[in-house]
Amino acid sequence: VERSLVLVKPDGVQRQLTGTILARIEAKGYRIVELKLVEATREVLEKHYEEHVGKPFYEPLVEFMLSGPTVAAVLEGDRVIEGFRSLAGTTDPTTAAPGTIRGDFGRDWGEKVQKNLVHGSDSVESAEREIAIWFG
Ligand code: GTP
Ligand code: MG
Repeated sequence: VERSLVLVKPDGVQRQLTGTILARIEAKGYRIVELKLVEATREVLEKHYEEHVGKPFYEPLVEFMLSGPTVAAVLEGDRVIEGFRSLAGTTDPTTAAPGTIRGDFGRDWGEKVQKNLVHGSDSVESAEREIAIWFG
C-alpha cells in the first residue's frame, strides 16, 4: 500500500487549520499512520527542499518553514500520493481551485514566500525519502 509524507506548514498550524485539513484527509478515506507536531530544523529543511537549493524562493521558503511548528503526517492508501495532491490543489494558492485545501484557505499575502498551507510528496521515491527525513 502506498504512503505519502504530508506537512501542515507553519501557516496552517498558526491559522488553526490543522484539524480541518486532517478531517479532509480522513473524509477522503486515507489512513493517518504517523502524526506529530514538530519545530523543523534547518538541517531537516535543507534535506526536504534539496531540489530547490539555489532557486530565488529557497531561502524565504526555509525561513518561513522555521517560523513556527509544522504538523508532519504519514498517510496510507491506494494512490494516496496523487490523491493528496489533488486534495491540496496547485502550488499557487491564489489560483488553486476552490474545493481544494489551498484553493479554499490560501491566498497570497504580499510576501516572497508562497504560504500554501500543506506539502505532499510528489512520487513514491520522494515519499520514501521524505518519510525518512521527518520520521527517521
Ligand atoms: P510542496 O507540496 O510544498 O512541495 O509544493 P509543490 O510540490 O506544489 O511545490 P514545489 O515542490 O514546486 O515547491 C515547494 C514550495 O516552494 C511550494 O509549496 C511553495 O511554498 C514554494 N514555491 C514553489 N514555487 C515557487 C515560486 O515560484 N515562487 C515562490 N515564491 N515560492 C514557490
Ligand atoms: Mg513539491
